[in-house]
Amino acid sequence: MASCPILSCSAPANMTAINHGITSSFLDKVHEVTKQFFSLPMEEKRKYSREASKIEGYGNDIIFSDHQILDWTDRLYLMVNPEDQRKFTFWPKNPTDFRDILLKYAMELSLITEVILKAMAKLLNLEDTCFLEQMGEQPTMIARFNLYPPCPRPDLVLGLKPHADGSAITFVLQDKEVEGLQFLKDNQWIRVPVIPQALLINIGDQAEIMSNGIFKSPVHRVVTNSERERISLAVFSSPDSDKEIEPIGRLFNDSRPRLYKKVKNYVDTYFQYYQQGKRPIDAVRY
Ligand code: OGA
Ligand code: NI
Repeated sequence: MASCPILSCSAPANMTAINHGITSSFLDKVHEVTKQFFSLPMEEKRKYSREASKIEGYGNDIIFSDHQILDWTDRLYLMVNPEDQRKFTFWPKNPTDFRDILLKYAMELSLITEVILKAMAKLLNLEDTCFLEQMGEQPTMIARFNLYPPCPRPDLVLGLKPHADGSAITFVLQDKEVEGLQFLKDNQWIRVPVIPQALLINIGDQAEIMSNGIFKSPVHRVVTNSERERISLAVFSSPDSDKEIEPIGRLFNDSRPRLYKKVKNYVDTYFQYYQQGKRPIDAVRY
């Protein structure tokens, strides 16, 4: 079991964990394989290209309309868990240790997900496992490797448009030198500093739903940089797609109303709404 992370809150619902139980040399490896993949020649990366209407694989935003403003980013999107849903045709063979490193990283993050969900339950004086149980037998884990190339007009284009994550918990391994991620707090964008060896842990919509809005899924975005590229890896930890989730019964009563409906496979709802420019969590309000 991973040791309990030391958490320092920088905003109501995200935190940077520095004593997370993953060694810094291993995090360096994760950075390294990410960088190595994005440094491959384009024809090599294209071997892993996503299909036109599917999200998994290498590419950019799916195109829905001519008016759509695209994010200034290349990404590699991989389903890591459950195991039987891995599509290894999209997993880079180069660097050769890419697969092993991603699998090991995912295992470590599954353990940290458990620690965090238990700690969140304790904070609310609930049964330790009440959030964990809602993750179901086969929780989902998706990895999204992001490359934000230098952008000549950072005033016009974002690396990633404002959004809240559709996960329960997200882990972001940020670039070690270049900033870009910002969180919206009290109508202001707050920069996330670069903290080497830190993992940024973010509450996603599904934890907001389970906690009946007590833990909030914050809106964030990535800005572009005119000179330097930025690399990051976001891993989204979510419940089993067959598991219905809902606010814990003890978190609503006559004075605190229930805010969210029961929902299954929220990630699907999430993408439909996101692509229409709507906030997905509004689809499940009670
Ligand atoms: C995301 C995300 C932040 C980053 O992929 O959802 O918010 O720094 N990424 O790339
Ligand atoms: Ni995000």
